[in-house]
Amino acid sequence: MTIKDCVKKYSNDLKLVTHIPAKEIEILIMFLLDKNPIWLHLNYNNEFEKENELQTLVKKRATNYPLEYITKKASFYGEQFIVNEGVLIPRPETEFLVENAFNILKEQKESKTVVEIGTGSGIISVMLALLIENIKIIAVDINPKALELAKQNAKKFGVLEKIDFRLSNLFENIFEENIFMVVSNPPYIANDYKLPKNVKFEPSNALFGGVLGDELLKNIIKETNDKKIQYLLCEIGFDQKKSLEEYFKEFNVEFHSFYKDYENFDRGFTLKFKK
Ligand SMILES: C[S@@+](CC[C@H](N)C(=O)[O-])C[C@H]1O[C@@H](n2cnc3c(N)ncnc32)[C@H](O)[C@@H]1O
Repeated sequence: MTIKDCVKKYSNDLKLVTHIPAKEIEILIMFLLDKNPIWLHLNYNNEFEKENELQTLVKKRATNYPLEYITKKASFYGEQFIVNEGVLIPRPETEFLVENAFNILKEQKESKTVVEIGTGSGIISVMLALLIENIKIIAVDINPKALELAKQNAKKFGVLEKIDFRLSNLFENIFEENIFMVVSNPPYIANDYKLPKNVKFEPSNALFGGVLGDELLKNIIKETNDKKIQYLLCEIGFDQKKSLEEYFKEFNVEFHSFYKDYENFDRGFTLKFKK
């Protein structure tokens, strides 16, 4: 069977799990052959020799198993990151968090120390290390699998020496002083929220933030303030702006602003504490 026929035949099996079934079959074929899109389109009418392997992957994907866990790749901020089962798959909305941190950091004359809480695959820390020359990052997570993967990504992009990856529950293993900024995309979903089928394959300790969902966020806000760190930038759930804005009133805040994601949902904030 040709590549073209395979795309047509197997697209049907993915219609219920994705709105781009043909594209996903192409991605699986490229993954199996280790080829790029240009090669694929030049060879669309050629015989495809790995139909059995393709069939196995399509069956797996048809259970809602994420495509990124099959191909072990996800794009973020225009770069290709390595992903692995057991670690959260990067989401495009987290690009806003990187962009906002970058805009503050690029204005700084001296080298700054940034802490990332919950680094996962390392996307935020790796991107900041790539974008800002003078930076030292301490990136923590409670999940050893995440730290292992984040290190692989830092190595892939040549920024391993700029990031200190550490196993830590929030700030527990962070003893440094003079930290300039904390960035975090913490788990922020309420414990009883019913996840969509595809998200169920991702680790629950990367998703659930407590009974209401914003408990971990509030811990991060409080601890950042206690440690006298000036800036805090976090991703949040679409319905958490009001409760967090209320919580900010308990602190001496110089300014704060919320931002929306690509779908116009409230998705995060930048906060500066008064010195
Ligand atoms: C939503 S994921 C974000 C991962 C990555 N930063 C990203 O944006 O794709 C949250 C991460 O926080 C980690 N985490 C959960 N609770 C934590 C805690 N108490 N202290 C440190 N990290 C935690 C999880 O293991 C997970 O990797």
